Amino acid sequence: MGSPHWKRLCLLLLAGLTSSLLLYGHYYATVESPTGRRIIASESFKPSAELEEPKPSRKQPSRCLRSVMARAKADPKFGEVFRFDIPVLMWDQHFTLETWERLKTRHVPYGWQGLSHTAVGSTLRLLNASANQHLFDRDTFPRGCVRCAVVGNGGILNGSRQGKAIDAHDLVFRINGAVIKGFEEDVGTKISFYGFTVNTMKNSLIAYAEYGFTQVPQGKDLRYIFIPSDIRDYVMLRSAIQGSPVPEGSDKGDKPQKYFGPEASAEKFKLLHPDFLQYLTARFLRSELLNTQYRSLYMPSTGALMLLTALHTCDQVSAYGFITTNYKQFSDHYYDEEKKPLVFYANHDMMLEAALWRSLHQAGIITLYQR
Ligand SMILES: *[C@@H]1O[C@H](CO)[C@@H](O)[C@H](O)[C@H]1NC(C)=O
Ligand SMILES: *[C@@H]1O[C@H](CO)[C@@H](O)[C@H](O)[C@H]1NC(C)=O
Repeated sequence: MGSPHWKRLCLLLLAGLTSSLLLYGHYYATVESPTGRRIIASESFKPSAELEEPKPSRKQPSRCLRSVMARAKADPKFGEVFRFDIPVLMWDQHFTLETWERLKTRHVPYGWQGLSHTAVGSTLRLLNASANQHLFDRDTFPRGCVRCAVVGNGGILNGSRQGKAIDAHDLVFRINGAVIKGFEEDVGTKISFYGFTVNTMKNSLIAYAEYGFTQVPQGKDLRYIFIPSDIRDYVMLRSAIQGSPVPEGSDKGDKPQKYFGPEASAEKFKLLHPDFLQYLTARFLRSELLNTQYRSLYMPSTGALMLLTALHTCDQVSAYGFITTNYKQFSDHYYDEEKKPLVFYANHDMMLEAALWRSLHQAGIITLYQR
């Protein structure tokens, strides 16, 4: 018995795959219609030779012995899959002619095809703080290993009493409709990173308001991770740093402070690199959907992208509220009032994600919460 809001968002039940895909395909075509002008190289490009291959974002070496990196490298299968020198984040240095030429040939979220040069460039130029170049500063964690928990919103967390264990991690990632109030015992309260696309964030505020998700989490130490899945993400990010209303596009007039709080500074925001998203999809979540005419709408889920981001930055990673083999025993979300089946969106491949979490857990690379 979903609310009208909920129904509105459930565009894409797997049951109606074909017809839904047509609907979504239309939506997506709108997103991708080329709005960009032909690009004229200008002084906004930094003259540089070193920039085609962006600098690795993991500048500070880890002192952790039993780390994700050590375990992945030792694993016969995952040793070939992980590349820890891939840039995770994007910042001002990446806005070069070379990168523009390369990324404009790939559609979002893997590139900048059809996006306005001005919109992308003016956003990236604001990401010029050292905090934009790494997820966190290793020096603030004197203990050897930086331990991260990534908290999905799965029904498996209902009644789990994992709150204390989650909060005991150094850093906690949460995503989309991360309802905390009333569920502290099960999901904890700590939040270091909130990951989203503007689309998923705004949909969550509509769909989960009745469960208490009336505001995007805010806090002095909280950092926001933008997934650049649309021009909206670049435009919102720029306005968020400038502390001004969104001047154009589908979020025109929106006040970013409403979402991210009054403190607007570049340090608060991180942007995932399109090359990182391309690498994650190609190596970890290459779905069969990519072999169909619907390839352009497929992308890993927000939760998957955050978990994989943690795997490429933290030393140890625990996943809570992610899909498990026995997902049918649990409701869609931990805050559902009555049990609902997990929603399969046609633009994601949840069974492939489930298989990946299971095999990373079996390889000892993540700790997947199961019951
Ligand atoms: C970043 O750019 C802004 C705006 O152009 C400028 O005011 C600021 O000083 C720059 N910060 C750094 C760390 O270079
Ligand atoms: C949450 O767990 C309680 C007991 O632990 C159960 O009674 C309730 O039905 C569960 N809610 C959902 C939505 O599954």
